[in-house]
Amino acid sequence: MSLDFGGRVAVVTGAGNGLGRSHALLLGSLGASVVVNDLGGSGAGEGSDASVADGVVAEIKDAGGNAVANPDSVTDGEKIVQCALDHFGRVDIVINNAGILRDKSLHKMSDDDWDMVYEVHLRGAYKVSRAAFPHMREQGYGRFVMTTSAAGIYGNFGQANYSACKLALHGLSQTIAVEGRSKGVQSNTIAPIAASRLMGTVMDEEAMNLLKPEVVSPLVAFLCHESCEDSGGLFEVGAGWISRVRWERSEGAYFDPAGFGIDDVAESWRTVNDFTNATHPKSTGSTFQAIQANPYLKKD
Ligand code: NAI
Repeated sequence: MSLDFGGRVAVVTGAGNGLGRSHALLLGSLGASVVVNDLGGSGAGEGSDASVADGVVAEIKDAGGNAVANPDSVTDGEKIVQCALDHFGRVDIVINNAGILRDKSLHKMSDDDWDMVYEVHLRGAYKVSRAAFPHMREQGYGRFVMTTSAAGIYGNFGQANYSACKLALHGLSQTIAVEGRSKGVQSNTIAPIAASRLMGTVMDEEAMNLLKPEVVSPLVAFLCHESCEDSGGLFEVGAGWISRVRWERSEGAYFDPAGFGIDDVAESWRTVNDFTNATHPKSTGSTFQAIQANPYLKKD
């Protein structure tokens, strides 16, 4: 079996470096027409350089692929999607990958550090997705990949701005999965770990060698392929490892909603936190099911 992307058009944001470049090269080599978007600024989001996207387009074309460069910021998502429509006539795949870092512990965080990270990661992904989604709905086909981070899933010291936006991207992905289900539009989230200029400041050289961006891209390409039927998923990936992460909910403790207090919560704390009979909820509906199972509600 050989999966290919003939006839598909992919937008990859932040594709001038690191992971995005690797995703763009792989999709280009598998037959997709690729919009290589990159603003070309610094790792902290300063400045711009259009030649960064041009370089990756040249690499794709040299390898026999089809690509166009786009130097807009992801905050101008409509322009990036318009570039796909102008050059290739459609958009099938959006990989929201562009990112910057402005690490500061919360008590030292400036509004600027917060706003910049929010603008690029969350608002940028929203803008590109918002622009692409109607086209995907209309054609009855689309694939999104959002890029979160272990920092988003678990929290990380010095990354309040980044982790908040990163986990929000998974929220966006899950809702696109719900809203796109009947229209053939799917969305999944990856939490990659890879050697890149963003990680260069926090990893030693040996780890950087092990964590090549190229070993993250096969998962991304699979999630973008028409043969992938999963949507709303969250996957950790890096250094030759791919794993799925999901929510787990304890059976929980039930109280009489007619009246209970702080002492009742304290008494039941072990039960609340007991994962013996845990379930893996997948939708808001499961919350209502759990509430309806409250034995106190069944009293008459
Ligand atoms: P990178 O710095 O090598 O690449 C990010 C690219 O995004 C750069 O080329 C940059 O110019 C571009 N970019 C930044 N702001 C932009 C904007 N406003 N509009 C368009 N392009 C913009 O970083 P890396 O490591 O490849 O990161 C890619 C994504 O993966 C990011 O979202 C990052 O947060 C995420 N990630 C990376 C991890 C890693 O281990 N490298 C870990 C977890 C998440």
